[in-house]
Amino acid sequence: MSTDSTSAAHTTAASHESFLERHYHLLRRLHSLSGVFPIGLFLIPHLTTNSSIVWGDFFNAKKYADYASTGPSGAGIATFQHEVDFIHNLPALIFIEIFVLWLPIAYHAILGVYFARSGKSNTQRYSYQGNWRYSAQRISGYIGVLFIFMHISSLRWGWTYGGIMPTFDPHAAASTTAIHMQGGIFPYFNALFYAVSVSALIFHFANGLWTAAITWGLTISRQAQERWGYVCAVIGISLWGAGLTAVAGFTNLDVKKAEQVEAQIQAASADAHSNVDGGTDAPRRVIFDPSIGQSGS
Ligand code: HEM
Repeated sequence: MSTDSTSAAHTTAASHESFLERHYHLLRRLHSLSGVFPIGLFLIPHLTTNSSIVWGDFFNAKKYADYASTGPSGAGIATFQHEVDFIHNLPALIFIEIFVLWLPIAYHAILGVYFARSGKSNTQRYSYQGNWRYSAQRISGYIGVLFIFMHISSLRWGWTYGGIMPTFDPHAAASTTAIHMQGGIFPYFNALFYAVSVSALIFHFANGLWTAAITWGLTISRQAQERWGYVCAVIGISLWGAGLTAVAGFTNLDVKKAEQVEAQIQAASADAHSNVDGGTDAPRRVIFDPSIGQSGS
């Protein structure tokens, strides 16, 4: 074949390549980056905030002495409410959510499914091909896509999936998160779904951190990969501890008790407002209704 016809064949082959194939290396690196930042980094404060339902009770018992005196978990409920209020008072929250969370998560999920299905995981460079972690990374990714979509659509957009997933009210943060775990048409199903999915996602993140360092050429020698492996294991185990603490904390929370503490917090905040502006801006109050989440979609 002449040089001309060879280059013509290459040009034709290249023009038949899809957009994804032509930009494979760039998209692959962006995929790796988006898993670490912002998604992975978001997990650290997110699970720390959620587990405050348990640790808040120990570390903030003095700060929230008024609520702590109402019995166990009072300070945890107040701590979690305080954290949620902080997030909901961030300026331009919806833009942060769309551009820092939802779009990067959608990008990572869609390309992740494409790479997993096309076998283009670039793992030839990893010495663990064929090893159990290679398959576990894909399976945990699929569980993660399902979980994150249902989690965000339920807690942020108010979808209840026919009553399976009761939704979230930021003014009654702990009680509605507890109802989310415990209630719905299949009581405690969500607690189990969360325990399994959160474990899968944390494995996915910790193992992904390990492979990302190879993708970016940061850990080339076997020793470097081994050392980084220990760091990833420590990060994973710590996050797993925080995640399961959060799930267990909300699964065991007394919903009535949480509503009492939230009503107390709202009354205190209404008092503070009425002292400042004559009480025109009273916060919304949500009372526990066992049928919450039993209807709608
Ligand atoms: C450990 C159990 C978890 C609990 C109790 C929990 C709780 C919550 C709550 C209450 C919200 C609504 C926040 C708000 O509106 O203020 C939320 C949102 C969210 N969660 Fe989780 N979560 C958990 C695990 C996870 C995991 C493992 C991920 C994986 C990345 C995740 C990702 C998200 C995202 C992306 C949002 C949307 C945030 C936003 O748009 O503001 N969550 N979660």
